[in-house]
Amino acid sequence: MKHLLKLLDVTPEEINDLLNLADQLKYEKKHGISHELLKGQTLGMIFQKSSTRTRVSFEAGMYQLGGHALFLSSHDLQIGRGEPVQDTARVLSRYLDGIMIRTFAQKEVEDLAKYGSIPVINGLTDLEHPCQVLADLMTIREHKGFLKGLKLCYIGDGNNMANSLIAGGLKTGMKVAVACPQGYEPDESVLAFAKDHPDFLLTKDPMEAAANADVLYTDVWASMGQESEAAERKTAFEGVYQINSNVLAAAKPDAMVQHCLPAHRGEEITEEVLEAHANEIFDEAENRLHAQKAVLVTLMRK
Ligand code: CP
Ligand code: NVA
Repeated sequence: MKHLLKLLDVTPEEINDLLNLADQLKYEKKHGISHELLKGQTLGMIFQKSSTRTRVSFEAGMYQLGGHALFLSSHDLQIGRGEPVQDTARVLSRYLDGIMIRTFAQKEVEDLAKYGSIPVINGLTDLEHPCQVLADLMTIREHKGFLKGLKLCYIGDGNNMANSLIAGGLKTGMKVAVACPQGYEPDESVLAFAKDHPDFLLTKDPMEAAANADVLYTDVWASMGQESEAAERKTAFEGVYQINSNVLAAAKPDAMVQHCLPAHRGEEITEEVLEAHANEIFDEAENRLHAQKAVLVTLMRK
């Protein structure tokens, strides 16, 4: 593995190795076993969108691995004034050992990898959020003991989260059922990968998707960059595309609930369900740290 650009590119074996390493790093962290595997290395973190979890977990993770992370806001970089990605990539490659980028277009992440000479990690694009889904798979495996054969139900917008969950879920042997309103389906490239898979279901009906599910997952109706569509999206999603007690009742009695956060209570998830499953949801948030450390070590260890 040279980069982590999207889960659609990652093999099932690579995902499995990352999850095993993440478990090991979490164990070592909990037991005070130091693992300075990236001593002296620097990660640059380019943010074109806001972040709490991604920024803090990457920065803390690099520190715990003996390295250092630089927060690079696109407002301050020349990239924000139009310096091309291909130049930024070549310059940063001379200073840093790895780059994490959160941006809009997937092409920007791909171009950084293409023109640079150091590992590039996708910290969220409009297409995918691979780091989040590695943490999600880690959390589900931690709570359930395994992934293969479990049913993952995603209700909501066919956005970056839906795309990465479909790729990651199917590649790890899960059954994946997605319920979205018409016009808000996952990306075509992801559907091309999933459509003939016997374990994949795409429906408009959340109850059909949730039936007998082991894991229920949702995300915001309007993602970062879609603020101007918020009202229109609300009309398309409201009253139907929500994880609430009715949806939970359709799932298995021991079903888990996951949310990448930030959550909009009363929109894609009710306050009641979020608080009843807070333990699982904040384990998921914690696991961003451990899963990303596994990515950093896999890509950057010399
Ligand atoms: N889930 C997630 O990526 O959170 P942030 O936007 O806070 O990084
Ligand atoms: N779909 C959301 C995920 C945030 C972590 C967004 O892109 O804003």
